[in-house]
Amino acid sequence: MTPWESLAAEAAHPPRMSDLFATDPGRAGAFSVEADGLRFDYSRTALTTAARDALFALADAAGLGPRRDAMFGGAPINESEGRAVLHMALRDPDGGRLAVAGRDVRPEIRDTLARMAGFARGVRSGAIAPPGGGRFAHVVHIGIGGSALGPEMALRALTPHADGPDVHVVSNIDGAHLTDVLARVDLRATLILIASKTFTTLETMTNAESARTALAAAVGERQAAGHFAAISSAVEKAAAFGIPAERVFGFGDYVGGRYSLWGPIGLSLMLAVGPERFREMLDGARAMDRHFCTAPWAANIPALLGLIGLWHHQICGFPTRAVLPYEQRLALLPAHLQQLEMESNGKSVGLDGAPLPHGGGPVVWGAAGTDCQHAFMQLVHQGSQVVPCEFLVGRAGHEAALAHHHRLLVANCLAQAAALMHGRADGPPHRRFAGNRPSTMLMYPRLTPFVLGQIVAAYEHRVFVEGVLLGLNSFDQWGVELGKEMAGTLGPAVAGEAGADAELDPAARAALAWLRGDHGPAS
Ligand code: F6P
Repeated sequence: MTPWESLAAEAAHPPRMSDLFATDPGRAGAFSVEADGLRFDYSRTALTTAARDALFALADAAGLGPRRDAMFGGAPINESEGRAVLHMALRDPDGGRLAVAGRDVRPEIRDTLARMAGFARGVRSGAIAPPGGGRFAHVVHIGIGGSALGPEMALRALTPHADGPDVHVVSNIDGAHLTDVLARVDLRATLILIASKTFTTLETMTNAESARTALAAAVGERQAAGHFAAISSAVEKAAAFGIPAERVFGFGDYVGGRYSLWGPIGLSLMLAVGPERFREMLDGARAMDRHFCTAPWAANIPALLGLIGLWHHQICGFPTRAVLPYEQRLALLPAHLQQLEMESNGKSVGLDGAPLPHGGGPVVWGAAGTDCQHAFMQLVHQGSQVVPCEFLVGRAGHEAALAHHHRLLVANCLAQAAALMHGRADGPPHRRFAGNRPSTMLMYPRLTPFVLGQIVAAYEHRVFVEGVLLGLNSFDQWGVELGKEMAGTLGPAVAGEAGADAELDPAARAALAWLRGDHGPAS
């Protein structure tokens, strides 16, 4: 039997979790691992020891270990783009030589981190100031996708450490986003960071141009330039926008957008929390890298996350997975993970171009607890589809005076996991719960910068693990291109250019006619 066949056989007659606990009183410990202060508990799943062994056999058969080592060694494992995958190098600036196509990338990583720290210290101390005087009290970070989601999530996560300028993120091309943010800042005291790896992304460049216009109106054309810095690999394009090279922070093409929080894309976070806290976050991620590279699968948190994900989606057939942080400051983690996981593993062909025999990754969604309990958890408990849940919860919060809140938060998190597992058999049908619904729990001491780094890096590696097991390339994203191209075609038609409608299909033409009010204004 292949590992896939063994797994299918294991899943054919799934045990009840409560029976697994009844026959093995030590299950909570036997199906949990600890690493560098984290504890990952996957005992509330239908995994038996045999199923787990089959998952480890699958990892070996898929060549997970050698593939991981190739990635960390700088091999071009992003094959469709011929690129190495080395976002991990950003969090290990002091490591030894690391060659990408024969060139050691470590010096440029060290140099960029030092430049970022110098810039951040300058802005935070007031040494780098607006041309018209005063201090930079606000930062507006303009970017989208991987150039916004990670920093925004981390900014929220590290709020207790934010003692620098206040940072706002603008991503959507909807002018409402920029307008509402600019209304909250004093432009004379605002630094605008344009974060775009390519410096061509429509949303970011449109927002950047409009921000420049607003700044010029507020401080004058000459002074406006002094309010900008860029995060981009395209130094010439940033220069063409009017940003001098010393205000441009770049990174190599071995760092994918959704994995880029750890370098210059994280500059707004560094401005908010300072270089020291930022470095602690890098250290946490690096600790997770070491753990991923050295722990056997049975003790390896990212490997277990990926293997259990595959068990639930590919083997048990559960179509989605919910990420539920019981930590308000991780409220944006599900959004970050949506891009990280769905842009990485939302594929249907493999490295060889053939259809994936076992499909791609699942839909990932979620929200912070306890709010989620008053929103969608009804469906998770009693709906007709099973949604494996991943809870995240800390031992302590930051609010010592509100420790009783934290105790209630923990009680609710544990209650959700227990209710999903046990269900309720008595009462009328509408009050019954089938139970036997799986969940895992990632526990941590407290949400510090180090812990945030550990958590996010664990999820990054989980995506990689899943990608290797499924045989796909997690590091390209061709699926976002077609819509971008079509928006290019539709732009002239929406703008009313003569003859542009002829390019459109009937559905688009009809919608556009209505949106333009061709047949009179909507009431
Ligand atoms: O959404 C597609 C994408 O290419 C992401 O992968 C990337 O993070 C984002 O757009 C932004 O790209 P850029 O940093 O080049 O503006």
